[in-house]
Amino acid sequence: MNPDLVVVGAGLFGLTVAQQVAERFGRKVLVLDRRRHVGGNAYSEIDPETGIEVHKYGAHLFHTSNERVWDYVNRFTSFTGYQHRVYTSHGGEVYPMPINLGTINQFFRAAYSPDEARALIREQSAELGDKEPENFVEKGVSLIGRPLYEAFIAHYTAKQWQTDPEKLSADIISRLPVRFTYDNRYFNDTYEGLPTRGYTHWLQTMADHPGIEVRLETDFFDESQDLSKGNVVGNVPVVYTGPVDRYFDYQAGRLGWRTIDLEEERLDVGDFQGCPVMNYPDADVPFTRILEFRHFHPERDMAKDKTIIHREYSRFAGDSDEPYYPVNTPEDRQQLLAYRDLGRAEQGVLFGGRLGTYKYFDMHMAIGAALSMVDNKLAPHFERGEALV
Ligand code: FAD
Ligand code: NA
Repeated sequence: MNPDLVVVGAGLFGLTVAQQVAERFGRKVLVLDRRRHVGGNAYSEIDPETGIEVHKYGAHLFHTSNERVWDYVNRFTSFTGYQHRVYTSHGGEVYPMPINLGTINQFFRAAYSPDEARALIREQSAELGDKEPENFVEKGVSLIGRPLYEAFIAHYTAKQWQTDPEKLSADIISRLPVRFTYDNRYFNDTYEGLPTRGYTHWLQTMADHPGIEVRLETDFFDESQDLSKGNVVGNVPVVYTGPVDRYFDYQAGRLGWRTIDLEEERLDVGDFQGCPVMNYPDADVPFTRILEFRHFHPERDMAKDKTIIHREYSRFAGDSDEPYYPVNTPEDRQQLLAYRDLGRAEQGVLFGGRLGTYKYFDMHMAIGAALSMVDNKLAPHFERGEALV
């Protein structure tokens, strides 16, 4: 294939760009990925023994309020009626999350009305008076009061960041949602669900177009292959969705990421925890949460005597770890500005996706951003011959 566009990365961003360029502009697109599968971090596998769909890079729940994105994704898959709900195991008791009237009444052994609970939280969160919160703990206390903050947030966040909450910046949280109703639906979006036939089926369907060729287990920086950076940049337009610092050989420094270690276990019980996600917010438990995948698809036929769980451990990513969440220190933000300048100056290459822009994106945001890139940058190029900048 003599491609009109090379897309580096077969995640949702890269697949959306490829699908649109092939369909709307009738162009040939070559997508490469260094992994052995398409789909990026949304990839999943159906376990052959149990029929349970396991999300290989962490649980992925689809939700959006963006009509265009919802219409777009529904061209490739239907979605189940799954609604996400999370529970949390604190001090030997299980509470509903996010913090809601049920959590509050269970925690305080009370039967508060919404107004009574609101008054209590207002009083407890006034502890610091008019003082500006100076760190994460003070910010948390000022938002929901000390008792709830210490029970459900402090150690959970400390485990996520492997950092003492006193040392975390106040601006990693701007709000902590507290609901004064019993509604414990996790997402507030208009649309929510899981791909009926699984993530991999959805993602493969996106790539299934005569104008698209996917090459797996191919690294853009491996100069021995014909689609390498050295062979492609300057000759064929590129949309690059890998890590932006890697593209520029880390010349402005390494951007910090957190990663998650997933400890997978197969258990000889039909149901381990009764729900898909159980958080563990206490300091004496090393993991942050446990996922039990069978609960994402109660409509499916699966083994009744076995289940598959992931225990999640959060930590800072080393050089060879999967980068998952941007750390975003002031130093990272400085480096990112330098990389953005370098990216703009790099002729014929557009940077996108969560790794290419160093941003946490939910799936619908990655798809929305890819559609915008197609409208704003790739349409002018492929329809009107404008330079790709
Ligand atoms: P990615 O999916 O990361 O794809 C980038 C691809 O580029 C990868 O496949 C990688 O192999 C490839 N690549 C990188 N470098 C190279 C190279 N040198 N050569 C070739 N290929 C390369 N979103 C939700 O909406 N709901 C959720 O519940 C949710 N849960 C998440 C849980 C976790 C643990 C994580 C990390 C993310 C979660 N997300 C969730 C976000 C979702 O994964 C992202 O929105 C999505 O992955 C973004 O797609 P992307 O294409 O930008 O990046
Ligand atoms: Na550029």
